[in-house]
Amino acid sequence: MARPLFDEETRQALLEVLNSGRLAQGLRVLEFEERFAEWAEVPFAIAVSNGTAALLLALMALEIGPEDEVITTPFTFAATANVILFLGARPVFADIQPSTLNLDPGEVERRITSRTRAIILVHLYGNPCEMEAFTELAERHGLALIEDAAHAPGALYRGQPVGSFGIGCFSFYATKNITTGEGGMITTQDPRLARRLRMLRDHGQSAKYVHEILGLNFRMTELQAALGIGQLQHIEAWNARRRAIAAFYTQHLRGVNPVETTPNSTSVYHLYTVRLAPGLRDAVRERLREVGVETGIHYPTPVYRQPLYQRLGYNESLPVAEAAAREVLSLPIHPALQDGEIRYVVEAMNAAIEDLGGK
Ligand SMILES: Cc1ncc(COP(=O)(O)O)c(C=O)c1O
Repeated sequence: MARPLFDEETRQALLEVLNSGRLAQGLRVLEFEERFAEWAEVPFAIAVSNGTAALLLALMALEIGPEDEVITTPFTFAATANVILFLGARPVFADIQPSTLNLDPGEVERRITSRTRAIILVHLYGNPCEMEAFTELAERHGLALIEDAAHAPGALYRGQPVGSFGIGCFSFYATKNITTGEGGMITTQDPRLARRLRMLRDHGQSAKYVHEILGLNFRMTELQAALGIGQLQHIEAWNARRRAIAAFYTQHLRGVNPVETTPNSTSVYHLYTVRLAPGLRDAVRERLREVGVETGIHYPTPVYRQPLYQRLGYNESLPVAEAAAREVLSLPIHPALQDGEIRYVVEAMNAAIEDLGGK
């Protein structure tokens, strides 16, 4: 499902960090932030220890806490909602669009109350949300817009990079489109917010040993930054390769419904996900495993159904998210895949569906 690529220059850069004797946040982190900000078309980028920290700090910078509600999608990795809970605020789940499985702006609007402070949307699988609708909604109701872009570095909505509409939160976890092992980045247009975020990631310090606000340690290391700078050189080519693989799958797979992409947008296909009838999905997955094709289910359980959320009294059942959890199957897609491997996946998938579909 994922195989990270590192070039010789990046390997050398890691050795340079080791030889320099400076491992904790320093000039390389600053360079990574500057390069990322330029590439993502935002004035400010703040590097942090992981994508979860990026989301948490975004909420902390907005001073979200008890009494507040934040509307988000249940069809995501739990991190998106857990950060809300962690600050004592209430995650409010809205259903997703049947076509893209991204958060549905109409469903979000119906859940806005006097307590709602922010929306956290997720550009699921690398495909941008309906940003025109969300930007308008956030402005009209005075809400902060947080973009969980963990899957979507480089994705465009009407030509504009995701993460530049609201507060962008990126992850560089080992399986992501670019990786630093663990790592994250926050993007913003707002200089005051950027300053706050820099303090929050470093124990609230405005200067050495001056603790202005309550923060903790969410810093990135120089080793991570060296990896990130190297990865950023390749991201456009790698995302293009992901799109080419996706186009090949869409053209050659038979009997499946790929999850759709948003009109006027460019997906970076962190995942290539199809929908199959529930029983068939699991049988196809098993058959693929037998012939050596790894697949994934993103995600098997809407977040509100997780044991933690059930204990907290969440008892909703959002129909589109429920159906998606039973039907989705993600196929291998990453730039290290060889043409032969891609053809093998298609053949294995078509054979499995032909074989199992009629039964
Ligand atoms: C949609 C989404 N949001 C947030 C995260 C959290 O990022 P991290 O693992 O870097 O903390 C992940 C994944 O790992 C994710 O897939």
